[in-house]
Formats: sequence, structure tokens, C-alpha cells
Amino acid sequence: MSHINNQNILDYLKAIRGKDTLIIEQIRRYALDNNVPIIKDEMKDFLQVIIAAVKPVKILEIGTAIGYSSIIMSNSSESVKQIITLEKSEEMIKIAGKNITNAEKNSIIKICIGDAEKTLEELEGQFDLIFMDAAKGQYITFLPHCLRLLKKGGILISDNVLQDGYIAKSRWSIPRRQRTIHRRMRQYLWELNHNSALKTAILPIADGITLSYKTEEDNTDE
Ligand SMILES: C[S@@+](CC[C@H](N)C(=O)[O-])C[C@H]1O[C@@H](n2cnc3c(N)ncnc32)[C@H](O)[C@@H]1O
Repeated sequence: MSHINNQNILDYLKAIRGKDTLIIEQIRRYALDNNVPIIKDEMKDFLQVIIAAVKPVKILEIGTAIGYSSIIMSNSSESVKQIITLEKSEEMIKIAGKNITNAEKNSIIKICIGDAEKTLEELEGQFDLIFMDAAKGQYITFLPHCLRLLKKGGILISDNVLQDGYIAKSRWSIPRRQRTIHRRMRQYLWELNHNSALKTAILPIADGITLSYKTEEDNTDE
């Protein structure tokens, strides 16, 4: 854990943070009580600011869970007219559907049911912003689709990329069960940093965030 992520500082930042709407607070409380993984407060703030500044119209999210981050993104700018969010867990989809209805976001947020490996293949169109927040070992597999679906000048954000700091350790020093994810996440971060279509910043906040800007047309097939 780095100095900037120490608990004192996180508590201080929490104490000075503005209030969320009641519905956002209720969904967060449900997630915490039921061990549903949702974005941390630092990622929430980050997404809200990026969306307010960039003013995306169409957003793609990979990993809906119970709809928390999609509702937050839809609240972040009036520019947002459509959020397509991909989720494979039926249990999550049921709860997300209720939350999206309660937040009166049915006309903006559409859940696309199924494994993103498949649903991404079938997805067409161009998105202004893509938020990747699903199984960490699959980010590298999803990346070519993200590059295809992200418009020039678009933004790709991903969460949970530093694996509690494991990412910086040698693969031999981490538990065996973590090694495949470790290798794939390293490939993903390497590709974000070296793909000529992207400019990327990797930020050691929350669970590790990446922010990429698509500068030119995707040339991964060349
Ligand atoms: C970290 S949670 C998403 C949290 C959500 N973005 C939020 O902050 O409110 C990750 C979600 O991705 C889903 N998921 C993981 N792998 C997936 C895949 N291959 N296709 C679709 N959904 C997937 C999981 O079921 C889980 O609900």
C-alpha cells in the first residue's frame, strides 16, 4: 500500500467528500452488506469528474453488478444519453434492473445479458467512453473489442488493475492461483502503455485505475 493510500488519508478524504443522493447511498449500503464488489469512492469521484468534463453521449460498461456505477455515470452529465452495460450473473442483473428502475434510468441504461466475451463480439457502434470493470483476467481479451468500439477521441477507463499491489511483484512470489490473472493483467497494462492508438495514465488510487485516450484509429489487426 503506498503512502497516498494510507487509511488516515482515505478517512480524511471521506470526511470532506460531498453527499451522494439517497438512492446511491442505499445501493452502496446494500453492496457493502452483501459483499457485492462495487467501485470505491475514489473511482466514483474520478468517473464523475471525467464524465462531467468529457461529456460522453454513449457509454459502454463491462461489469454491471447491481447497477451502482452505471447509475453514477448516468447522473454525472446531462450529455449521457445511452449506457450499455454488460453482465453475466442473473442474480446481479435482477437487482440491477430494480435499482435502475428506482433511479428512473430505464430510458438511458440498458443491461446486455450474457458473458462479455460473446456480447462484445456482437456489439456494434461507437462509444465515447468505455468503463471496464469485470473479471480482471479477461481485460486483455476484451481490449481489442474496446479498441474497435471506442471512437477516436474516446476514453477507456479500467478498474482494479493493481491487484492489491501484487502486480508489481514477481510471479514466483505470489500465490499460484493468482498467477494467471497476474500475467494477463501485466499484458493488459503493457498493451495500454504501448498501443500506438492510446495514450494511457495508470493511477495508484482506489484499486488501481487506468485512463486511456484513443488518439488514432485502431491498428491492432495490421
Ligand atoms: C466489480 S463488479 C462490477 C461493479 C460495477 N461496475 C459497479 O461498480 O457498480 C464485476 C461484475 O462483472 C461481472 N462479470 C465478470 N466477468 C464477466 C464477463 N465475462 N461477462 C459479463 N460480466 C462479467 C461480474 O458478474 C460482476 O458482477
